[in-house]
Amino acid sequence: MADDTASFRERYGEWALVTGASAGIGAEFARALAARGMSCVLSARREDRLRALARELEETRRVETRVIPADLAVPDGAERLADAVARLEIGVLVNNAGFGYAGRFEKLATDRLRAMVQVNCMAPVVLTSRLLPSMRARGRGAVIVTGSVAGRQPLPLHGVYSATKAFDLFLGESLWAELRGSGIDVLVIEPGATSTEFQDVAGEVAHAGEPPERVVAVALAALGRQPSVVSGWMNWVTANANRFLPRAATARVAEWVIARQTPAEMR
Ligand SMILES: NC(=O)c1ccc[n+]([C@@H]2O[C@H](COP(=O)([O-])OP(=O)(O)OC[C@H]3O[C@@H](n4cnc5c(N)ncnc54)[C@H](OP(=O)(O)O)[C@@H]3O)[C@@H](O)[C@H]2O)c1
Repeated sequence: MADDTASFRERYGEWALVTGASAGIGAEFARALAARGMSCVLSARREDRLRALARELEETRRVETRVIPADLAVPDGAERLADAVARLEIGVLVNNAGFGYAGRFEKLATDRLRAMVQVNCMAPVVLTSRLLPSMRARGRGAVIVTGSVAGRQPLPLHGVYSATKAFDLFLGESLWAELRGSGIDVLVIEPGATSTEFQDVAGEVAHAGEPPERVVAVALAALGRQPSVVSGWMNWVTANANRFLPRAATARVAEWVIARQTPAEMR
């Protein structure tokens, strides 16, 4: 572990910035990065959660932390977060904050849809755009984007969410190719259903999911080896089976699946 720790920090630098660190996959990213010796900037809206996690990391992992509350749904939220970390050498950027919003398109509130696009798409663009130049100058760094298997096909009743995750996948994979050989690793982690607060926030019917620790372990093992990785072999099979179906069939099968995870009044 000591060697792993040294090599991870050497590979990328001292600090990691994790968005969406107050819960679920983001909190686990912070724990896993701190376990590899990285100091962590924790960001999300719920400051009390971030402060509790910061204390845990400082006590158990002896790393430095910073807590920067930020609402990435507001137009200048990501810019302000980038300003707030400008003096730190951010070696690993984890663009993880995100949420879903389940239901038939015309039943969904426009403001919440706009906020979803802002958090899931614009925040990774702005943060990566702001933090990449200094990684470039140092010749090392990593950018991780939390995508989803939802981005592999259209998801009726979750259409905007699936479109945001297709955006994240294409953004991350494009950056991976652009940055090959630069010393900067890029990875899109594509989880399937994961046991976090996501389903509650999205208004889904509760269903089983992978533990977030497993998703993060898959991501960190794949970083530097490939542009994207699906967590879980069953998720990989369903994400890739789509490629061989006509698009109409893919959309209709997906609608059947998502309808079962959507409350009747929202279908
Ligand atoms: N769970 C799944 O089944 C699943 C599957 C595939 C992909 N994902 C992706 O995984 C990522 C993490 O989600 P999760 O499963 O860990 O869900 P989660 O437990 O609900 O965590 C979401 C995180 O995003 C933050 N966030 C939400 N809105 C925000 C805003 N306006 N500004 C700043 N931060 C905001 C939340 O913090 P605050 O509320 O404190 O702001 C929280 O820390 C998301 O990108 C999601 O799309 C999840």
